[in-house]
Amino acid sequence: MGIENIRKVGVAGAGSMGAGIIQQCAVNGFEVQVLEVNEAAWERGRNIIAKSLGRLVKKGKLSEGDEKAVWERIAFSTDPGAFQGVDFVIEAVIEDFGLKKELFEKLDAVCAEHVIFASNTSSLSITELASTTKRRDRFVGMHFFNPVPVMRLVEVIPGVETSQETVATAREMAKRLGKEPVVCKDVPGFIVNRLLIPMLLDAVRLVEAGVASVEDIDKAMKLGANLPMGPLELIDYTGADISYFVGNIFYEYTKEPRYAPPHLLRKMVKAGLLGRKTGKGFYDYEERD
Ligand code: CAA
Repeated sequence: MGIENIRKVGVAGAGSMGAGIIQQCAVNGFEVQVLEVNEAAWERGRNIIAKSLGRLVKKGKLSEGDEKAVWERIAFSTDPGAFQGVDFVIEAVIEDFGLKKELFEKLDAVCAEHVIFASNTSSLSITELASTTKRRDRFVGMHFFNPVPVMRLVEVIPGVETSQETVATAREMAKRLGKEPVVCKDVPGFIVNRLLIPMLLDAVRLVEAGVASVEDIDKAMKLGANLPMGPLELIDYTGADISYFVGNIFYEYTKEPRYAPPHLLRKMVKAGLLGRKTGKGFYDYEERD
């Protein structure tokens, strides 16, 4: 289906990535059907969106009337059947192949044949995910970045059977959502995480080796490489569990030592020192906030 016929987007998952994607779709004029496991999960997603829209209103980038219209375009259900009638699907549920497979099988039965399925996975193979559906040519990766409303990139990843038409529609869709697409082959990490994750893990290795303090490593990369956040701050921002999980998956795929999470990261994850979301990681957010 061409971009001009897409009016309603189904977004599965309303965690930090899903919530950002839902917001971006609704702000850019699409009707959005949200699918989450229960009301409490959607409540958390709604809060993320409310906070983010609130920033835009406060800065005069969105009027209160437009904010209301954004909410009116968003509908929620726990029933995959609610995706009947959507024109495009974006999946942003947790990074569990079995869970995604089960979801895609359900959605495959519900959605019209022409509907494209896009996955926001950052660590699983698009080709393998596509193989769980009967629409392998209409299955593509669309990898967004956190925080979605701010980060301008979407990596578009064709699987081995994805059609050129699907890639073209995914690129157009990214643009309609206010993003810049880049196209990348289905390899572990795509472009950004392939380069970013080893850098983040190396920063943890510097801490482990006592090369410099956490603050100085971050300061060095902010002032010396012009990064908006230091690498350790970024691990805290996205969650130590995410860097650990993604590193492990890439290591499993590639057996390249640069993806193997260092012991310190493992210990932090096991101790629940995940960063902002648990109040403590490389930095203490309970003291800061
Ligand atoms: N929603 C809406 N707007 C937001 C926002 C959100 N969640 N978070 C920040 N903003 C806005 C702010 O309102 C502000 O807007 P103005 O420029 O209009 O004032 C702007 O973004 C900058 O924010 P702040 O001034 O609060 O703080 P900052 O300048 O430090 O920016 C940041 C915050 C955008 C997060 C920036 O620090 C940054 O870019 N960090 C790096 C993020 C990054 O690398 N993300 C990729 C992670 S990897 C990933 O996502 C892939 C994966 O698969 C693991």
